[in-house]
Amino acid sequence: MRSKNLAAILTAAVVLAACAAIAVAPAAASEDEEPVGNLAELMRAILFPNSNFLFDVQMTDPGSPPDPAEEGDGTVSSLFSGIYTGWQVPQQAALALAEIEPLIMNPDRMCQNGTPAPVGNEDYQKYAKQLTEVAKKIYAAAHEEDRDTVSDLTNDLAGACEDCHAIYRRYPESSRCK
Ligand code: HEC
Repeated sequence: MRSKNLAAILTAAVVLAACAAIAVAPAAASEDEEPVGNLAELMRAILFPNSNFLFDVQMTDPGSPPDPAEEGDGTVSSLFSGIYTGWQVPQQAALALAEIEPLIMNPDRMCQNGTPAPVGNEDYQKYAKQLTEVAKKIYAAAHEEDRDTVSDLTNDLAGACEDCHAIYRRYPESSRCK
């Protein structure tokens, strides 16, 4: 009986300790998550398509987008392509870019050539922040449905990509991220 009670107490203590451990460990910040892809893959998956949606605003007015194609090509993406349209497109694209900085700055992120992403370098940090700042401005202007301002800001956006690429995305690939 006594040992049973002791076992119960010990079990409770272990459970409590486990709970305490869970309670004190803060939710991992996204930048501490183990990255899935390398930096080039992240750029291709998120920065490239979303910045292209924003550059589109120069040519096409999000307030009067062209009619979606009558017949889709049978894919799910074409089936649902008409759901989030108009100004939502640049609004969403700007949001994706405004929130990407922690993923670019993940200390475990590797570049395609096996070099760690230079997250400790001040200029790299500055370029990543520059991208966030311009994307936030575009996000605000897209919510105001201000096409001229969004168009103008896309020049700053291209500049933010280019500033970092000029230093860290050099050719040949072996010299990148250094
Ligand atoms: C803070 C620095 C930084 C910023 C800001 C940045 N990039 Fe990059 N980008 C890089 C680096 C470094 C690489 C090379 C990564 C590698 O080789 O793994 C790269 C690679 C890429 C690639 C892949 C090229 C290939 O080899 O296929 C694309 C596409 C890209 N960037 C697009 C963009 C766009 C668009 C923006 C702006 C919206 C942007 N990047 C902003 C640093 C940056």
